[in-house]
Order: sequence, then C-alpha cells, then structure tokens
Amino acid sequence: MPVLPAIQRVPEMQAWSERVRRRGERIVMVPTMGFLHEGHLSLVRAGRERGDRLVVSIFANPTQFAPSEDFESYPRDLERDVRLLAAEGVDLLFNPAAEDMYPRGYQTYVDVEAVSRPLCGVHRPGHFRGVATVVLKLFNIVRPHVAVFGLKDYQQVQVIRRMLLDLNLDVEIVACATVREPDGVAMSSRNRYLGAAEREAAACLQSALGKAEALVRGGETSAAKVRDAVVAEIRRQPLARLEYADLCDPDDLEPVSEIRGSTLLALCAWVGKARLIDNRVLGGSQP
Ligand code: PAF
Repeated sequence: MPVLPAIQRVPEMQAWSERVRRRGERIVMVPTMGFLHEGHLSLVRAGRERGDRLVVSIFANPTQFAPSEDFESYPRDLERDVRLLAAEGVDLLFNPAAEDMYPRGYQTYVDVEAVSRPLCGVHRPGHFRGVATVVLKLFNIVRPHVAVFGLKDYQQVQVIRRMLLDLNLDVEIVACATVREPDGVAMSSRNRYLGAAEREAAACLQSALGKAEALVRGGETSAAKVRDAVVAEIRRQPLARLEYADLCDPDDLEPVSEIRGSTLLALCAWVGKARLIDNRVLGGSQP
C-alpha cells in the first residue's frame, strides 16, 4: 500500500516548502476541498508533469460558504481521499484545521472586484472573496510554482488569475478541461446529493450547452437568442430549476449581446438539493 505523507500545521508546511525550494525543486499544488473524484484526479495527473514535488491540499473552506449554504453537509471522506492520492503518487497532503487557517481575531480578506460580481457572484455574494482569500493563504503557505485548477469552476479560475495579476504573485496557473460522466454531466462533489432521477435530469445542462454550440456553429450571433434556446432546454426538464444562463466575455466576464469570437456560456441550475454549474466557450477554444 503506498503511503501519503501529510502535514496539518501551517509552519511545518512552510518549512517543507522552504527546504524543497532551496534544493531548486519546483512545487506543484492542486488545491481541493476533498471528496475527490476523477475531475480532481485529472488535475493531479496534469500537475505531476509540471514540477518535481506535487502537493494536494484538502481544506473545506468555511469562508466561501454563506451561512445558508451546505458547508456543514459538504461531503467529506478523508480516508478515501488519502487512498486515491497515494495511488496517484502525490508527494504530500496538506490538510490544515480551520482554526489554524482562520485563528481567533482573523480579519483579512481578498476582494477581487468586477470579475467576482456576475454569474455565481450574483447568487453567492461573498463566495469569491472566500475563495480568493483561501487561495492566497494556501499559496503563501505552500508556496507553489504552479497551481492546477479545473475549468468547471470557470469564474473561480478567472478570479484567481486576476488576483495573481493584481497582487504580483509569481504562481503559474494551469487550467484543465472539465471531466465528465459518460452522459456528459460534469463531475462534481455535489453530484452526490442527486437521486437517480435527478442524476438523469442533471444531463440537461450539458444538452443545453450542446444546443447553444450548435446554434453558434450554424451562424447565430445573437446572445439573447442563444440564451432563449438554453433556457427552453433547461425548462424541458421538470426537475431542474435554472439559476442563471449568461453569455459573457471569457476574460473579464462582462455580458455580451453579440457573439463575435470566443464567448463564454455559463450555466447554473438546481436539481434537487444540488446546485450544478457548467460552461462552454462558444465560437472559440477554452483559455
Ligand atoms: O474549487 C475548489 O475546490 C475550492 O473553491 C478551492 C479552490 C479549493 C478553494 O477552497
């Protein structure tokens, strides 16, 4: 059985990274909140090729959940996660305690302004402030040269990229394609909330993205028309409730009315207790 060394304490993690950096080795990091699935493992595999030491963090970050959200019930299975990461040959797990990440008196947060506001930002105020804060803290603790994220959380990737630019952080971001179930449903820890019928219904996000792509390939340039088709497709599925379907610029996430060149279609729908997001870059390639 492969073993996975783990560090919980912040100073110990910083000391480990300092030693590795002094030897001139490159550290790659994959930040996660645990309950790992193939999507996370694809990030781990992408990370493996990009440096000498591969660190995965598991930290369910309380500051990115609103009080009404699923922080307490967010799925956790550390033993299984450790087995999966050990089998992937990960060098180190960093799984700090919440009290160490946010000790008494904690009061500093990172607010990445405009790019955090649309899409999920409208419905989860404060979410990206929590994400940017914890990612910056993780970068300061693990001090990676490279960090790997998944494009299912497209807005999160853009928020982190903007934060790195604005705060002059020297971390290379690698963004990897969404990993999907055979029926096209994007892998997500929250898929675990879905019953059998809901799991089938969840495929409507992928079919709506497909409809939009077909329209744009066929020459449609009106964002409103593409959005209408997406809304109609989601409405066909009685178990799904659309939260948003927006077309925007893939870099700054500003809304667009005409599809000229690459345009991001970002979707969010509730199916049962699961809030599902998905996206596709239309008329171009993923960044
Ligand atoms: O994508 C996630 O799992 C989280 O938002 C992240 C980046 C680990 C920050 O908590």
